[in-house]
Amino acid sequence: MPQHPKQAWPYPEFVAHRGGGTLAPENTIAGFREGIRYGYRAAECDVKLSADNVCFLLHDDTVDRTSNGQGEAKSKTMAELSLLDAGGWKGAAFAGEALPTLANVAAHCLAQGMLLNIEIKPCPGRFEETGRLVAQEAARLWAGAAVPPLLSSFEIDALRAAQAAEPALPRAFLCEEVPVNWRAILAELDCVALHCDHKTLTEALARDIKAAGYQLLCYTVNDPADARRLLAWGVDSLCTDRLDLLPARG
Ligand code: G3P
Ligand code: CA
Repeated sequence: MPQHPKQAWPYPEFVAHRGGGTLAPENTIAGFREGIRYGYRAAECDVKLSADNVCFLLHDDTVDRTSNGQGEAKSKTMAELSLLDAGGWKGAAFAGEALPTLANVAAHCLAQGMLLNIEIKPCPGRFEETGRLVAQEAARLWAGAAVPPLLSSFEIDALRAAQAAEPALPRAFLCEEVPVNWRAILAELDCVALHCDHKTLTEALARDIKAAGYQLLCYTVNDPADARRLLAWGVDSLCTDRLDLLPARG
């Protein structure tokens, strides 16, 4: 089997989605603590830029769903974002949880020996600068680490900017359905992996991607029967919300 020339991310069998899945508020340090508690050694998170270009964790374009604030994330400075409660929406036990910066998360992951898949999730209109600045910040924060973070994105322009800024960091192309030109995209972006929605993957396609020498991750797998089937097809790693149902192995 051909080997990708870049250092591949180790791809544990299970990766905690958005920090700690649905057991804790997504994209918070409380979530990452859940991952550790369940024995996970890798997590995924969503990273975008504040108005003053700080890399921080948030899934949506607005802060409305996952904090006590309102409005577009891209119009708020990190000082404004850091005043929000990003945990209370998930229950009183998490009230007061902060929206973490990527630096906060790097410190936690490095201290705990947890690997990180950073999904570059740009605000509208900020694709290239988000790719560039997240890659530069990740390279700075993980300098000297044994395993670098993995940079993934649905946005080809963001991945291209990350590649130009920090070519040595491993990259993964994210997609819902694997496009017919996946080979060309992975080659152009010099990716180590393809990450797709498990609902759209077929066994034949999984075997083709693996035979081409790439790592393969599926999201978001919450049913143990789906997990068994996908792993049997050769999928390397599954991103899950259900740390309680899919206990970390290996
Ligand atoms: O890592 C892939 C997965 O996180 C993509 O979906 O919407 O949860 O960011 P989403
Ligand atoms: Ca994500």
